[in-house]
Amino acid sequence: MSEATQRSAPRAQHADAFAACVWEGLSRPRKSLPCRFFYDAKGSALFEEITQQPEYYPTKTEVAILHAHAEQIVDGAPDEAVLVEFGSGSSIKTELLLQRARRLYAYAPIDISQSALRDATIRLSTRFPGLKIRPTLADFSHPIELPPDLAGRPKLGFFPGSTIGNFSPADATELLRAMRGTLSPDGRLIIGVDLKKDVRRLIQAYDDANGVTAQFNLNLLVRINRELGGTFDLQTFRHAAIYEPREGRIEMHLVSLIDQDVWVKGRKFRFRAGETIHTENAYKYTIEEFSNIARSAGWTPLRVWTDDERLFSVHELVAA
Ligand code: TRP
Repeated sequence: MSEATQRSAPRAQHADAFAACVWEGLSRPRKSLPCRFFYDAKGSALFEEITQQPEYYPTKTEVAILHAHAEQIVDGAPDEAVLVEFGSGSSIKTELLLQRARRLYAYAPIDISQSALRDATIRLSTRFPGLKIRPTLADFSHPIELPPDLAGRPKLGFFPGSTIGNFSPADATELLRAMRGTLSPDGRLIIGVDLKKDVRRLIQAYDDANGVTAQFNLNLLVRINRELGGTFDLQTFRHAAIYEPREGRIEMHLVSLIDQDVWVKGRKFRFRAGETIHTENAYKYTIEEFSNIARSAGWTPLRVWTDDERLFSVHELVAA
C-alpha cells in the first residue's frame, strides 16, 4: 500500500459511514440527519459563535450559575476525587470548577476531538500546574474506559451545556445510567439542564437574528456537498426552529423551499416544497421532570442551582 493510500484509508472509511447515515436518514418518510455530524471544524467554530449570540441564553446563564456557586457545587466531592467531564470541548466552564475544587487527584476530560483535548490539556496544565490531566479520546455516548490509574477513586462527573437535552428522554436515561457506571464507585454528577420557559424566548435562542444558528444547521448540507459530493443548493433550503409542546422540545429543521431532487453519492432524494429534514432536538425540562429522569437512571438528585429568571439549572446527582 502506498503512503497516500494508507493515509486516505481512514478518511474513506469515515466517508462511507457518513454516506450510509445520510442515505438512511434521507430515505425515511420523515427525513432526518443525525446531529453528531454538525461538529466538523467549521461547525465547531459556528457553535462557538452561537454561544456568543445575545439570544442564546443557555451558555451565559450556566456560566453565571457555575461562577456564583462553584464552591458549593464542588464541595460534595471528597479530597483526591477525579473530575470527569463528558464532551469536554474547550474545557472553559471546567476552569470555574477547577479554581474552587479542593485537592483533586486528576482531571479526566472525554471528547471526540483530538485537537480540542490537546489544546485544553496544554492550556490547563499551564493554568493549573500540579493538576494531573488524563484525557480520553472517545464518544461519551458509548461505554467509556478511563485511564487505569483512575480506577477505584471517587469521581465527580461534569456534563454541562444541556447536552443531555439533545437526547430523547429514553436515551437520556440510558446515558445517565451509563455515566453512573463510569463514575462508580461513589459517583457524583454535576449536570446542566435547560429549563422550560416562554416559547418565544426558547425559539429565539435557536433562531438568532444574526443567522448563526441557521448557518450552523445549513453547514450540514455544506458538509454533505463537500465530503459526499452532494448537490444541495443552499439557496433552496432554510433553517427553522419550532417548539413541540407535547414533546417539550425545540426541533431544528432544514426546509426545502421548492420541489427538487438532490443527489448524494449516486443516490437521488426527492423533496417536496415545504418538506423538512429534521436535524436536532433540544428537550427542555422542569426541575421536577429532570429529577425524575435522573431517579429512573438510578441517581438521587441532591441539590440544584438556578439563576434568578429560572432559565437554566445545574443539578447535583449522587449514585443511589
Ligand atoms: N446543547 C446545545 C443546545 O441544545 C446544542 C445547540 C445549540 C444546537 N444550538 C443548536 C444544536 C443548534 C443544533 C443546532 O442548546
